[in-house]
Amino acid sequence: MSPLREEELRNEPRLVADPADWLKSAAVYHVYVRSFQDTTGSGTGDLQGVLQRLPHIISLGADAIWLSPFYASPMDDLGYDIADHCEVDPLFGTLADFDELVSAAHGAGLKVMIDLVFSHTSDRHPWFEESMADRTNPKADWYVWADPKPDGTPPNNWLSAFGGSAWTWNRQREQYYLHDFLPSQPSLDFANMDVRKALLDIAEFWVARGVDAFRIDTLNSYFHDRDLRDNPPAPSQGDGRHPAANPFAQQLHLYDRVQRGDIGPLESFVAAIEMLGATTVVGEIGNRLKARDGQGLARCYTYCLPRALLNAEEMGARLAEAIDQSPDGRIAWALSNHDHTRHVSRFGGHGGEIDQMARLSAALLVSLPGAISIFQGEELGLEEAAIPHEQLRDPFAIRFWPDLKGRDGCRTPMVWDGAAHNAGFSVGESWLPVQEAHVARCVAAQDGDPSSLLAFYRDALAFRRQTVEAGEGRPGAPRGEGSVLAFRRDFDGQCLLGVFNMSREMAVHQEADVPSDFSPGEVLPGSALPAEGRFDLPPFGFFVGRYKV
Ligand code: BGC
Repeated sequence: MSPLREEELRNEPRLVADPADWLKSAAVYHVYVRSFQDTTGSGTGDLQGVLQRLPHIISLGADAIWLSPFYASPMDDLGYDIADHCEVDPLFGTLADFDELVSAAHGAGLKVMIDLVFSHTSDRHPWFEESMADRTNPKADWYVWADPKPDGTPPNNWLSAFGGSAWTWNRQREQYYLHDFLPSQPSLDFANMDVRKALLDIAEFWVARGVDAFRIDTLNSYFHDRDLRDNPPAPSQGDGRHPAANPFAQQLHLYDRVQRGDIGPLESFVAAIEMLGATTVVGEIGNRLKARDGQGLARCYTYCLPRALLNAEEMGARLAEAIDQSPDGRIAWALSNHDHTRHVSRFGGHGGEIDQMARLSAALLVSLPGAISIFQGEELGLEEAAIPHEQLRDPFAIRFWPDLKGRDGCRTPMVWDGAAHNAGFSVGESWLPVQEAHVARCVAAQDGDPSSLLAFYRDALAFRRQTVEAGEGRPGAPRGEGSVLAFRRDFDGQCLLGVFNMSREMAVHQEADVPSDFSPGEVLPGSALPAEGRFDLPPFGFFVGRYKV
């Protein structure tokens, strides 16, 4: 615990309706371990680095940390290809480092969430090595194997999200195996009860080490059609996620991904994990399985904030739809993560707009029902980085360059201290280049400046910690009219009001009526206060505040 100063050890307790259900409305800080802090000079972030930087996370006011995969891995998909689920990769440290981190986080009042990557393993996992040896070994059915068509081609038309067929030929078994992602990420057969039991054992291993929550990676890849039927073509060209460069979007993924009927086994699997201890689970269900379809799941979340900063009407409709799909408030929101373009860039922010856009988005985020996740660097207003071809590390980016940019641009190192080598991230050669444009926004440059974006994030999370109706209030339907998005959230005689100017016009103020029963309480700093019964919202302006009803 030496890096933590006494006064940084704990935040004020959060106001929460049911402390046992802490994740329901938690603010989770998402640490992409590779890029957070390197303590060995390897150029890659590590677990000791997370420990060293815990004071930053605590000072933000997060309730939990979510660690991206740190398991033993050949790193073909940068750690999402696991060769041993119960070992830390030497690049990231040791199990003892993990234990030290968990104990320091708990000491500081932070919960710890880790990624469970269970839909596939690395092809160098001992399970796969055994499974591919022949068709009769004890693990022969642990992965999805299928015979070729009579002409030797793959069993069906399924495509990998990372390009090409979802099937790869194996000479030893003279069969194809399924992989939703890279050929070196064979899909486990989740219908096999021995597989499920082995996966539960892994979860149990981490619960015993003190983990409080899991994010289950790609839950919608767990099941597939047992008859291996061909996917039909998608009605329109793609869903916007994989443009023409990747034909994956040209299929309707009816048969290769989880469908409604598969919820039962998923529900009991999630429930079994939750029974392992005081553990709670976030299932990454993607956008093909809606949150409503996942209602049976004890705690199933979807990350569904729009890819673009929409106009107020569209944003209102999108939020209303997502909230409606999770009537019990079990939803999680993220503006950015390790798989998507950083939101200030995605929303098209330039120059001076970036800070204002980041504040408006964060004000919206902290007002939403459910859990929220903050991706490292968003509190600094970091933009998406442009990575030259020769420095790309993401296999998706390498495969589709130059048509698709991939995910390296959101995974560049954190910037701590502008005066230090690699902005304090690493004394070695950084695995992805530290961005010159990011350095001016480093933590040291913003820390102590009450007008900084970092200070705003701290204020916003402090406001949410003390405003139970923000995370847990009954959501009223968000309404978008003209350029103004508005909603209210009720909880136990208190009400939270959120009003946001979503216009992209820099010069345009927007007006909105103040509700007739409004009597002001605490407000989120930076809010435009009402006067004479009206809100006058400057460009990117907002009001987030509570009142008694
Ligand atoms: C993770 C990605 C990863 C993929 C395949 C996803 O859901 O978030 O980063 O590439 O799973 O493992």
